[in-house]
Amino acid sequence: MITIPALRNAPFRNRVLLASGTAGYATELDGVMDLDALGGVVSKCVSLLPRHGNPAPRVAEFAGGMMNSVGLANPGLASVKARELPAMLARAGGKFQVLVNVVGFTMEEYAEVIAGLAGLEGIAAFELNLSCPNTAHGGIEFGAEPESVATIVKQCRAATEVPLIAKLSPVLADPASIAAVAVEAGAAGVSLVNTFPGTLSEVDGGPRLGAGRGGVSGPPLLPIGVLAVRQTRQRLPNAVIIGVGGIRSAEDARQYLRAGADLIAIGTAGLAEPRLPPRVARELEQSRG
Ligand SMILES: Cc1cc2nc3c(=O)[nH]c(=O)nc-3n(C[C@H](O)[C@H](O)[C@H](O)COP(=O)(O)O)c2cc1C
Repeated sequence: MITIPALRNAPFRNRVLLASGTAGYATELDGVMDLDALGGVVSKCVSLLPRHGNPAPRVAEFAGGMMNSVGLANPGLASVKARELPAMLARAGGKFQVLVNVVGFTMEEYAEVIAGLAGLEGIAAFELNLSCPNTAHGGIEFGAEPESVATIVKQCRAATEVPLIAKLSPVLADPASIAAVAVEAGAAGVSLVNTFPGTLSEVDGGPRLGAGRGGVSGPPLLPIGVLAVRQTRQRLPNAVIIGVGGIRSAEDARQYLRAGADLIAIGTAGLAEPRLPPRVARELEQSRG
């Protein structure tokens, strides 16, 4: 068991999590993946209102990675509070930790979602997806604006005692300085990294994704995420860091751990091969990684 003081000593069986958006609310994976072999699962995002997401196709593969434009589809706070999260927490039953991913389309929405989830016991952390566009400020993502990061984290801090993890984009010029802003505002730490923007076309010139563009995930993210983790660990020796992006093997996971991550999360590779995350977890347990 691994305990992390800044996550209120929640016991993690090992350092491997499933990344947000690739594991639903965990129960969808029963019968598909051995969830109990993992350290934790980060839920699909939760927004204030239900979101249908983007037009199909929502995923496209390319040599070496994938793109998605799911568009943060989720059932919304009321449903998630009444159904999906209670089921996820019951399924976890303390065997794996539950982290809840939260999105907002205004700065206030993050704290409103978190306040709305008050009373659900057993959440190890809220992960704030700060890669959402700040529509009031020309659509630049919240995570690229230090003032927005500070405001969102402070509002969420006031709304809950549960630890907060700020999830940042891989396209920030200086992720460590944004991470420092988040920690200064009350976050326990950061998740590094989210997807980065990209697009590809069909032979007829039409876009491969219904939304015209999407987020790139998988192996191209590995060295980018590892560098972001290393820089952030140097800047913030005591922050919790979750390394995510492009992990396909125990050795990839160790890249993040050597760079200073406390936990790692696997997304795309688990979608393609559900046995992979438990295998990475077992291999790390065996090597005490
Ligand atoms: C289909 C899909 C949906 C995702 N949805 C979310 C989401 O709702 N919130 C979030 O913070 N990240 C989301 N992500 C990003 C992943 O959690 C992760 O940061 C990213 O995919 C990099 O990890 P990977 O290379 O192992 O997939 C999503 C990724 C994919 C592929």
